[in-house]
Amino acid sequence: MRFKNPIMGVVLGTALLGAGISNAFAADETLRSLAEKNGIYIGAILNSQWFSGGLPANYEQIHKAQFNIVVAENEMKFDATEPQEGRFSYGNGDKMVKYAQQNGMRVRGHALAWHSQVPGWVNNYRNDKQKLLKVLKNHIQNVVSHWKGKVAEWDVVNEAISNNEPMWRSQSVWYQGIGPEFIDSAFVWTHAVDPDAELCYNDYNLEQGINSKAKAGFLLEQVKRWVKNGIPIHCVGSQTHVEDTTTDKHFIGSPDSLRSLAKELAKLNVKLKITELDIGFKSGVNVSKKDLERQGETFRQYLDIILEEPNADTYLIWGVSDKWSWLSGLNRQKGLIYDDNLKPKPAFDSILVRLQNFEPPQDTTKKDTTAKDTTVKDTTKKDTTVKDTTKKDTTEAIAKIASRATVSAYVAGRTLFVTGLGLKTTAKVDLFDMQGRPVFSTQSENGMVDLKNISEGYYVVRITAGSAKTVQRVNIK
Ligand code: XIL
Repeated sequence: MRFKNPIMGVVLGTALLGAGISNAFAADETLRSLAEKNGIYIGAILNSQWFSGGLPANYEQIHKAQFNIVVAENEMKFDATEPQEGRFSYGNGDKMVKYAQQNGMRVRGHALAWHSQVPGWVNNYRNDKQKLLKVLKNHIQNVVSHWKGKVAEWDVVNEAISNNEPMWRSQSVWYQGIGPEFIDSAFVWTHAVDPDAELCYNDYNLEQGINSKAKAGFLLEQVKRWVKNGIPIHCVGSQTHVEDTTTDKHFIGSPDSLRSLAKELAKLNVKLKITELDIGFKSGVNVSKKDLERQGETFRQYLDIILEEPNADTYLIWGVSDKWSWLSGLNRQKGLIYDDNLKPKPAFDSILVRLQNFEPPQDTTKKDTTAKDTTVKDTTKKDTTVKDTTKKDTTEAIAKIASRATVSAYVAGRTLFVTGLGLKTTAKVDLFDMQGRPVFSTQSENGMVDLKNISEGYYVVRITAGSAKTVQRVNIK
């Protein structure tokens, strides 16, 4: 993962718009700049109203200043992208992709195979398996190739698991017509079109435990099977639409449960992303300042998973302001981090402060998202998921040598300084992007390496001098 740098002018100019706390913090400390410092993506959807110009100007200013990953609330769904059979409609999605490119944001694509927001014409083929297979394949091939190289990750399959008992969701045109293999096929087709895109299975209620009776427990078994069978799945998206614990008496989810899922997925070399977070209160109840503070604490607990678990890298909120939120349809309210007037809520402050104070563990390979590749792989299995064959080797090497670090490196201005070399004056310096791909390799001279030709962003640097080796994450500004 290598972030494009935020456009600093925009960030500087608008950071204070989002600053909820009055104590001074550097003007360029936005959620986004701090997330980037911590090597994670933080984001919010672009609400549907944005696409028709129906939002105040400060909505977009806040959005681009505070977030570095974006997803469309509805505009890349099946009914939006193929409203009529074979007639594709990309205007709104393109608009978002352009906005993301102009503002250095990563784009999530949502969603390819989902039972909901499917246009009526698809339902005409309800029981025609061969036709539905063609329809889904054609849809995926067109949509994914249209945004190939622009959409970095896709929700390939969304909400395919039933809500009540852990089994496939039967009320789905895809499941009914094709059977559960629509899922495997959707991943394979997407990967074939864009082998560089990260492919996720996305669902809700995944924070409710990983036992066999829970949705995430069922999912985990499927992910194991997919990985074993070489199905190209790289991530699980946890929507994480949760209700405040005090208003929902039946609430059984918790950040700890979601963390357990992240840990299990790490063993399978699969990432966990939080993709649609909101923490609502029941509609109609009075929400006090104390409630909002507790809500902030819950936002912070979910953020901790993303900061602390090596295979977790994305914290995406399903909306910006409570004024434009899908939650009212769910009989919930006030689930986001900006209030109706686009003023930051205590939840914003909790996230900001946590990002400011988070101390990454000493093993700096942790949050490079390549860390997922350090888990031992079953080399006998057919692995269609490895996109870059240099990646596995380099990251395994990184992990190994990180444990015997005796030298270190730091960046000042545009120079990398290597320290701790003693009498050894030269060292081999390898720079990798956050995906573990080599950027360049050189010998340091007098403990220094010139970085002036490297683009801004996060990198992993590996230094080798005789038997002394180290690996660190560095921020080149
Ligand atoms: C919601 C949108 O926010 C609404 O505007 C729309 O009417 C329905 O869908 N899970 C998902 C999202 O995967 O696509 C849903 O978005 C929220 C639940």
